[in-house]
This record gives sequence, structure tokens and C-alpha cells, in this order.
Amino acid sequence: MHVLVTGGAGFIGSHTAVALLERGHRVTIADDFQNSSPKVIDRIEQITGTRPGLAAVDLLDEEAFDAAFASASPDAVIHFAGLKAVGESVADPLRYYAHNLGSTFSLLKTMKRHGVRSLVFSSSATVYGDQQDPPYREDGGRLDATNPYGMTKVMLERILSDVAESEGGWHIGLLRYFNPIGAHPSGLIGEDPNGIPNNLAPYILQVAVGRLPEVNIFGDDYATADGTGERDYIHVADLAEGHVAALEKLSAVEGARAWNLGTGAGTSVRQMIAAFEAASGHPIPAIVRPRREGDLPRSWADTTRAASELGWTASRSIADMARDGWRWQSQNPNGFAD
Ligand code: UFG
Repeated sequence: MHVLVTGGAGFIGSHTAVALLERGHRVTIADDFQNSSPKVIDRIEQITGTRPGLAAVDLLDEEAFDAAFASASPDAVIHFAGLKAVGESVADPLRYYAHNLGSTFSLLKTMKRHGVRSLVFSSSATVYGDQQDPPYREDGGRLDATNPYGMTKVMLERILSDVAESEGGWHIGLLRYFNPIGAHPSGLIGEDPNGIPNNLAPYILQVAVGRLPEVNIFGDDYATADGTGERDYIHVADLAEGHVAALEKLSAVEGARAWNLGTGAGTSVRQMIAAFEAASGHPIPAIVRPRREGDLPRSWADTTRAASELGWTASRSIADMARDGWRWQSQNPNGFAD
């Protein structure tokens, strides 16, 4: 299959491009490099021996995107492109709604014009909101989110389902990611956040490599085993393989179908710090701070549906995630920057 990967130079997109190429699919990446580096294209070629096609284009520029789409002529699309920082979305909701919804509208209109109706969409466990208890099931209740970023995912899941309902021929996978971390085992690609990281794993790695002084533990008084927040961390290479599995099963789906991509197990903040200490071989200083507003105590996936319908389960351990994350960060202390 020839797959157009929007946001394919980003963290999850680049690992998915590698997994697709390794399975023998063709890949064209569409990316405007607003929050990613063009170097990723070279690194993907280094890892796989194949250079993906590239359309350096902003999806919101509908004319330019349509021309790029026509020239690539893909069979299917995996749509990662979008803004993803929770705090930023609270500060500037209009930008988040306009960007994430607008770029997806542009994509859908372009796909319709070109008769392409197979789409895998980057959703998030954030659509489970704060009214359900883990493990989260795909059909566990009404979707909700506690911030504008998450609400763009809730809205886009609904919009995509409505589109799929409105006319036959659409095959849409909605992939709800839990907490993707780690990196490709080569250490050539990995997560490279702008500025100070918001998420735990990249923050720990920047402390481990000496860019930041200490990890802030946001609360140690939750009703969890050690009092710190528990999340379902998933190796980005497992997540990437989940996309390939969804893509390959998509033709069996009439309309839209949601699948959780997680491991089904929770790991605490303190356990994560310990895993990275073991991987890096030195102590990682940490200090307990107040809870971060909007954080859930615990989150993990019910993985039954992805296992039975996609034949996919995550196989890599927390130790694998820490080892590969550390390899990436220690080989590239400043990410893709020179
Ligand atoms: N945490 C810290 N210190 C930090 C950062 C995080 O203690 O510096 C804690 C959090 O309190 C939480 C855990 O580490 O208990 C994980 O936090 P992350 O920010 O790494 O991840 P979240 O689960 O909060 O957020 C992730 C994605 C979001 C998504 C959300 C819900 O990053 O995009 O899951 O699915 F919206």
C-alpha cells in the first residue's frame, strides 16, 4: 500500500513511517516541520534503507496540499499532524480548535476529491475524560475531555464517525494512544519536544542528560500504590506496529472503529524514574511538588479489542522503553538540533 503520513516527521509519525517501510509499504510524508525536523527524513532512510517521499506542506494550505496529494496519489492516509500540548491549548483554545479541526477538514475534503477513503486517525486516551475508571474500554461511555486539545480529539472522532456514516466506502480507524515513550532502538529517531518538556519521560531524560536539574513529581498523595500518578506507558515502536496492524485490517471495517493502543498496565512516576536510573546508570534527582491541575490519578487501557480485532498487542517492557529512550537522548542530547 502507498500511505500518506501527515505529521510523519514527528515522534509517533516517524516511527510509524519506519514500521510501514519495514513491512514493505510505500510512504510519503506530509509535514510542515513546524514542530519537527527535516533531518528525520534522512534518519528514516538510514534506518530502513528507503527514502520516504516528502511533501513539505501545511494541510491548512488546501490548494498546496491538494496538489501534493494528487502527485503522491496514496491509497490510504495516517493522520498524525496536529497541535498536542495540553497547557498551550488551555491558554489558546481558538488556535487549537482552528488548527486541529481545520487541517482535518482540509484532509477529508482532499481525500474525497481524490476518492481515497481509508484513514487512520491519531486519537488519544484523553477522550475518556475524568468520569470513567481504568481500564478504559472503547465502548465504556460518553467521550469527554478536560482541555481544548483533548476536546479536538473528541470532536474529530465524532466528525470522522459522522462522515463515515454519511456515505458508504469509508474505512476509518480511530487509534486511542495511551502514553507513548521510548525511541527506535537505533537511537536515530526519538522524541524532541520544543522547550521544556511537558511530559514525564522526556523530562526525566533531560534531567538524566544534564539539561534540567531535577524531576518534579506532581503529587505523591494519590490513591495509588506509591502515591504518584499511574499511566499506561507504551513503547513508540509497539505503537507504530499498532498503526500498521490497523491499516492492514482497515478494509474489514465499514465506517469508523476505535481501538485502544496501550499495554493494559499502569506504572507510577516513581517507578518510571527508577527505570530510567537503571537504564542510564546514574541517580536521577527528583522533588515532590503539588499535583498538576487536571491530572488523573490513574489511567490504563483495556486492550481486548485491539488484540482480538487487530491481532496486535504491545510486547516491549518499561525497561525496553527506558533503555531505548536513554540511547536516543544520550546519543542526541539536544535532539535534532545541531
Ligand atoms: N508528571 C510528573 N512530572 C512531570 C510530568 C508529568 O510527575 O514533569 C506525572 C503526571 O502527573 C502524570 C504522569 O507523570 O501522573 C504522566 O504525565 P504526562 O504529562 O507524561 O502524561 P499525561 O498522562 O498527563 O498526558 C498524556 C498525553 C496527553 C494526553 C493525556 C491523556 O501527553 O497528550 O495523556 O491521554 F492528553
